[in-house]
Amino acid sequence: MKYSLRDARASDKELLAPWTTHTFAWGDYVVDSFDRWLAHPNSRVLVAADDTDEPVAVARGVLLSPDELWLQGIRVHPDWRRRGIASKLGESLQQWGAQQSAKVALLMVEDWNEAACDQVTHLGFRETTTWLRAFQTTKHSGRAIARAASGAPDEPLRRSTVAEVGPAYLAWSGSELNRAARGMMTVSWQCRRLHVEDLERAAEHGALLAGPTGWAVGAPRDNRLEVGWLQTTPDRAVGHFESLLALAVSDRAATLEIMIPAVPWLEEAALSADFEIERLLLFEKAL
Ligand SMILES: CC(C)(COP(=O)(O)OP(=O)(O)OC[C@H]1O[C@@H](n2cnc3c(N)ncnc32)[C@H](O)[C@@H]1OP(=O)(O)O)[C@@H](O)C(=O)NCCC(=O)NCCS
Repeated sequence: MKYSLRDARASDKELLAPWTTHTFAWGDYVVDSFDRWLAHPNSRVLVAADDTDEPVAVARGVLLSPDELWLQGIRVHPDWRRRGIASKLGESLQQWGAQQSAKVALLMVEDWNEAACDQVTHLGFRETTTWLRAFQTTKHSGRAIARAASGAPDEPLRRSTVAEVGPAYLAWSGSELNRAARGMMTVSWQCRRLHVEDLERAAEHGALLAGPTGWAVGAPRDNRLEVGWLQTTPDRAVGHFESLLALAVSDRAATLEIMIPAVPWLEEAALSADFEIERLLLFEKAL
């Protein structure tokens, strides 16, 4: 079974769809993201094609910053697995990233996905951090309904201005959350180093939230409120999650999704605020 690697093209989408739509129990995002991936200026999408030029595997690399290459969306057709295709795609995207100036390649794998963990370890990636995806449907949340019924929360989070950037960055820089996250934030499940300019940009776009319980960066995406960074303290963490939930309800978001580094007190706070949690492993490799 011969294959060769080539750049993906728009017409590949419908050929990929039959076997990349239900990859996981929750579905998959490859087909929905495909056109955006192709159009993105700092992105490269590769496929492995069989001898009729039909794609049998796909993977994407994107530069999240000049230094950081993010790898994602690696899918190999079930009939084509264990032939080294994922590894070849990964290597080619790393070469491309290095040519573009990237110094490190990063990717995330759900902790139950042993095949993917073994495959990226085989490629020389090192597991560095555990992230938690804490999520909750606002419609079915007893807390959210109670909050909405009782009006404004006790300690509301408000969309804030750049005046909050300094205090937020300072509090986070020396914090346990910063160390656990190794200085990183997430944007739509993609992890990269956080710089003070990220908080400035968030404030400019109304996405920097501030209140007595701490700070967060949260923005609407589809029907969700997505929080990719937060700073709080152990005594305020439950209140912080509740305030984020209240904001999601008032924004009419169907779900609230928060990415947090795996720190025991933060995880306990999320659980006690009724969030469900999934564990994601961040892998890194120097290029
Ligand atoms: C994970 C996945 C991409 C691997 O693709 P692949 O082309 O079969 O991987 P490779 O052939 O390059 O594997 C290289 C090495 O990785 C490890 N590996 C790959 N699949 C494995 C599995 N199912 N179990 C254990 N180790 C595995 C092995 O060490 C393998 O070397 P070997 O075959 O010589 O033993 C593929 O199984 C897949 O598409 N899974 C569904 C989608 C998915 O989970 N994507 C990753 C999400 S982050």
